[in-house]
Amino acid sequence: MEIILGITGSTGTIFAVRFLEKIKDVSPKSKIHLIISDWGIRTLQIETQYSLEYLFELCYRKYENNDLSAQISSGSFRTDAMLILPCSMKTMSAIAHGYSDTLIVRAADVCLKERRKLIVCPRETPLNSIHIENMLKLSNMGVHIIPPMPAFYNNPKTLDDMIEHFVVKLLDHLEIFTEYKGRWRGGN
Ligand SMILES: Cc1cc2nc3c(=O)[nH]c(=O)nc-3n(C[C@H](O)[C@H](O)[C@H](O)COP(=O)(O)O)c2cc1C
Repeated sequence: MEIILGITGSTGTIFAVRFLEKIKDVSPKSKIHLIISDWGIRTLQIETQYSLEYLFELCYRKYENNDLSAQISSGSFRTDAMLILPCSMKTMSAIAHGYSDTLIVRAADVCLKERRKLIVCPRETPLNSIHIENMLKLSNMGVHIIPPMPAFYNNPKTLDDMIEHFVVKLLDHLEIFTEYKGRWRGGN
């Protein structure tokens, strides 16, 4: 699969790190095209111990967010899906309104016009009406809106357990199925 991963400046860049590690493990042939916004880079530095170089090693290709001439800027370049993890309210707003002045937003716009799978993981709390309207707008266009929300029914013991649960959900939406012991198997 050719998958575009956009990382933006919302809190929770660790989700993207764990996603890259997991997909490398369970689907090593998947080609990840990475774009990270300036505020995504800043947030990664503030919140994690991981370097940009480490993320690049886990990817097939990387792009500058201001490079609107990149191949993924055009619908003629075939991709299977795009994931924005985490997605800031700013980037979500730009996608919802077709304001494609960055490569992340342009690549998402291409997914919408080509009717390709787009998964957006918006992260903000609380949400105002603008955020909610933008989510609804994108959902009505077939976008998978998957906010990084913790689950407790799988009895997570660590933060990494919670993150893995969310990452497996994203892989499910990408139709990359993986054995995972935290799936709900019915209550007693
Ligand atoms: C540490 C940190 C955490 C942030 N968390 C959020 C957040 O959870 N949601 C959000 O919408 N913006 C958040 N922001 C603000 C965005 O980074 C800011 O709106 C930025 O313009 C987003 O640009 P981008 O979408 O191009 O990355 C955060 C900023 C910083 C520095």
